[in-house]
Amino acid sequence: MSSLPTETDYINGAKQAMAKAYAPYSNYPVGALVVTQNGETFAGCNIENASYPEGNCAETAAIAAMVIAGHQRIQKIYIMSQDDQGATPCGGCRQRIREFSDNNTPVILCSPAGVQQRLALGELLPHAFGPEFLL
Ligand code: THU
Repeated sequence: MSSLPTETDYINGAKQAMAKAYAPYSNYPVGALVVTQNGETFAGCNIENASYPEGNCAETAAIAAMVIAGHQRIQKIYIMSQDDQGATPCGGCRQRIREFSDNNTPVILCSPAGVQQRLALGELLPHAFGPEFLL
């Protein structure tokens, strides 16, 4: 018998993603777990390289996995770091999340101890320039 995933399942998914991070330069591993509108999940981790500015964030990787699987709506996103406060997404990732969500979409910042902060995307990226301006 299968049951619906709990928040703990999502947090564990983000934790497993963080464990895969390739962050030898910053030593700041991050995992992200996107939950789509229909409940599917896609994970990503940060992937750095020797040319420091060319690394990718965990959120970017999770969104790429979601899109290549054919999904374009984020129901919520978990971001896991070792930071006690929970890491907030960088400016570029706020915009990438915005593309597939709206002002009310929960962005859930976690540490290994659990959820540290729940924010709405509109709090992180107010007055966003979104696809509605162009599409
Ligand atoms: N990073 C993420 O992957 N997501 C965030 O939300 C914050 C920062 C990464 C980028 C870089 O690999 C490392 O964390 C330190 O900035």
